[in-house]
Amino acid sequence: MNQDIKNICCIGAGYVGGPTMSVIASNCPNIQVNVVDINPERVAAWNDRDIANLPIYEPGLGQIIKKCRGYNLHFSTNIEENISKADLIFISVNTPTKTSGIGAGQAIDLKWVEESSRTIAKYAKGFTIVVEKSTLPVKTAQKIKEILQATSANKGVSFEKKFSVLSNPEFLAEGNAIKNLEEPDRILIGGDDEESIKALAGIYSKWVDVKKILTTDLWSSELSKLIANAFLAQRISSINSMSALCEITGAHIKDVAVAVGADKRIGKYFLNAGPGFGGSCFKKDISNLIYICNHYGLYEVSEYWQKVLDINNWQQRRLIEIILKKLFGTISEKKIAILGFSFKADTNDTRESPAIFICKKLIEEGANLYIYDPKVNNNQIDYDLKRVLEKSFHEKDLWQCCELIEEATNNADAAVILTEWDEFKKLNWNDINKMMRQPAWIFDTRSTIEIKKLANKNINIWQTGFGN
Ligand code: UDX
Ligand code: UDX
Repeated sequence: MNQDIKNICCIGAGYVGGPTMSVIASNCPNIQVNVVDINPERVAAWNDRDIANLPIYEPGLGQIIKKCRGYNLHFSTNIEENISKADLIFISVNTPTKTSGIGAGQAIDLKWVEESSRTIAKYAKGFTIVVEKSTLPVKTAQKIKEILQATSANKGVSFEKKFSVLSNPEFLAEGNAIKNLEEPDRILIGGDDEESIKALAGIYSKWVDVKKILTTDLWSSELSKLIANAFLAQRISSINSMSALCEITGAHIKDVAVAVGADKRIGKYFLNAGPGFGGSCFKKDISNLIYICNHYGLYEVSEYWQKVLDINNWQQRRLIEIILKKLFGTISEKKIAILGFSFKADTNDTRESPAIFICKKLIEEGANLYIYDPKVNNNQIDYDLKRVLEKSFHEKDLWQCCELIEEATNNADAAVILTEWDEFKKLNWNDINKMMRQPAWIFDTRSTIEIKKLANKNINIWQTGFGN
């Protein structure tokens, strides 16, 4: 069916839906883009006149919102009406790991995707293209089709006349989302209806070179997203596992990464050792991949990928042990500055952040944490820590959030850098060290400090993967 897309609806105004729709609206002034969400507070934040109050922090997003909001980009809770007006609907709702029942801890909870499909089935009018934007297990499109099909049959119309389902996974990395959307490595569209694929490709082609728009079948597209994330996470576990070997043998992981990455077949990106990967995707998607492999009896494959997750957890446990060891085996009542709480720089997102697990363990050892992050708000930090700590630790004043870095580091026994924020790279550690309780330690898990440039060579600095 020939489709001229004039009106888009996106269900889910989150980290993916918000930026993706903003960039589409910015590049396609003739298309009306409505982003809808069941959460009225989130929608209100997207509509806040003050750009600083947008619900997510993403470099470059504010300018686009200023340019398009109210013209061809709208945020609302009016889901039914915007679905009924849409030629094309993106499903961009969250797809968390199941916490109970069959597959708990591994399988994806498709509750929100199913709910969205039912709402679409009920309110969509005319022919509508339904696009999976959320990361989903392979074959989810089949479930969406079945739901849409059942409703179409009830209404006495054929499915093909009413809906087409496409997969169009996002590959954006937080903190770089706008750049990734404006200049993507590739756009992937999976489907079985050529015209619908053409219609969606037509939207992206307004700003993306057509050579970068890859088309395939539904299952290859769904699976490609899971596999891409698994490969990326695998690189991090690979380099982190080697960071431990470098520390023991006196090698330097940064130099090793440059030497290894110089081989074009390996490539230089994504080889930074650190406190392990966080974020909403890697753990969830690999867990899901493991679940799918087990389901199909591919036990060796699932064990292989399980190791990527195991190394990630091990790296975090290893860091705790190093901190304890350097601080004479005890951190009870010691002041420790935590610099960075988000799972990576340039985002306020804390989902699966290594900081959560590391802070939890330090608090359980009795440390007093002074936490500073330039973008994560204090309520989020409190919420994340209370979620993982036993109740008995909640009331003891064992952590506090700081507005200034000095507040965290003055008189501290140690500073632990957990996120590679630019402002940490510019810190004067000679001065900070003087204000710390000696012998103080700086645990630079992201290797942000250029040790060679420090005037005082006697500062105790530990960096991931740096052997002496
Ligand atoms: C996305 C993807 O969709 C997910 O599959 C991927 O693995 C990670 O990125 P993200 O945008 O980060 O999710 O999630 P989130 O920021 O939680 O946003 C989802 C939004 O959907 C929320 O604002 C939530 O309120 C909304 N939602 C959820 C609905 O509007 N309707 C629902 O039925 C469920
Ligand atoms: C990831 C994928 O990159 C993206 O394509 C997908 O769509 C969603 O998941 P995101 O989680 O936003 O994006 O960030 P990413 O830059 O991939 O970083 C994930 C985690 O790995 C972070 O905790 C980061 O600090 C860590 N990381 C990344 C490293 O420890 N070392 C590296 O070299 C790269």
